[in-house]
Amino acid sequence: MSVGFRLNAAVLLVLVSLVFPPFCVGIRSIPTIGDGLGSGFDRFSEAPDYRNGRGCPVSADKRVLGLKSSCDPSLVHVAMTLDSEYLRGSIAAVHSVLKHASCPENVFFHFISAEFDPASPRVLTQLVRSTFPSLNFKVYIFREDTVINLISSSIREALENPLNYARNYLGDILDICVDRVIYLDSDLVLADDIHKLWNITLTGSKIIGAPEYCHANFTTYFTDTFWSDPVLSRVFGSRKPCYFNTGVMVMDLLKWREGNYRKRIENWMEIQRRKRIYDLGSLPPFLLVFGGNVESIDHRWNQHGLGGDNVKGSCRSLHPGPVSLLHWSGKGKPWVRLDARKPCQVDYLWEPYDLYKHSNRVKTQHQSSMAYSPSTLVGYSTYL
Ligand SMILES: *[C@@H]1O[C@H](CO)[C@@H](O)[C@H](O)[C@H]1NC(C)=O
Ligand SMILES: *[C@@H]1O[C@H](CO)[C@@H](O)[C@H](O)[C@H]1NC(C)=O
Repeated sequence: MSVGFRLNAAVLLVLVSLVFPPFCVGIRSIPTIGDGLGSGFDRFSEAPDYRNGRGCPVSADKRVLGLKSSCDPSLVHVAMTLDSEYLRGSIAAVHSVLKHASCPENVFFHFISAEFDPASPRVLTQLVRSTFPSLNFKVYIFREDTVINLISSSIREALENPLNYARNYLGDILDICVDRVIYLDSDLVLADDIHKLWNITLTGSKIIGAPEYCHANFTTYFTDTFWSDPVLSRVFGSRKPCYFNTGVMVMDLLKWREGNYRKRIENWMEIQRRKRIYDLGSLPPFLLVFGGNVESIDHRWNQHGLGGDNVKGSCRSLHPGPVSLLHWSGKGKPWVRLDARKPCQVDYLWEPYDLYKHSNRVKTQHQSSMAYSPSTLVGYSTYL
């Protein structure tokens, strides 16, 4: 009980939403490092202005600047993290969603940003605004100490980003009127209308919709400590667990909040901290709570693993069948491989959504197809 209360209080304190515009919550002064990024605003081109097609639900609630409140029932809600490391990926993901949406003006983005991001949430907010001037969005600050004590030390040593756990707190972070959200990782692009994904039905008491993979060997996601403990491993006793990737999830936040699923996931993280029941970070607790109870949606909505293994330089090809969402989970990221001039074939599918402006110098080198050294990428390290 006391742990629950403490965390609730922490979550409430922490999740001060920063609405833009105006960006007015004076939590702390603007860090100077943010000013360093200021000149980086022109690093991204302004995205084309995507407008609703005919037949889109008309918003009942337009505010002064034409921006919508997140309680508008005509909205599709998308949650993503926003941080300086994956910024280029996040911008491309947003661009892809807007480009293929039948009603782009009805999509509302909820960005979760880390309090101590080197670029500061404020600077990231301004950058999103300048790239997508008419986007409906909010930036929320996620305080790392919400989860840092729950992340087991072995994983923390590997410098896992606490933002990976932000998806567990969406029920607390987002306005209470938001009762469904699509969570998206930052290393993916959509190639289809997000309204189709939004419209899927979560049958029965299902809380999450995601593509499932029932042929994956589930044993490997947990340690021997887990499987040899009769009490722990009984969690899968009455269900056939299937793997699902937590980078693309349709979440019923109403049922999530009612069932206190945030706490259920944290309970497994507590056990992990004491016993080490799995090796990966944020995925296994989701498998423990939801594996086997997921609404199975078409695999086209998460072609994951396209990152392959950067170390080995291995490239993955697409699985056969239609594709609505491409996901570079795995070590390799398309922007890194493209810039290094060692792209995989699938990376060319990401490129059209990239809004990052290379300096003229780099472009010239592209045109002359010379290999360039990292030193030619002026200011690049600020972003990656
Ligand atoms: C989603 O559902 C709404 C309401 O039922 C419907 O009007 C709309 O056409 C659907 N959109 C898509 C892309 O399926
Ligand atoms: C699954 O993996 C475990 C351990 O890696 C192995 O012992 C087991 O035989 C595998 N099961 C199947 C069905 O491949």
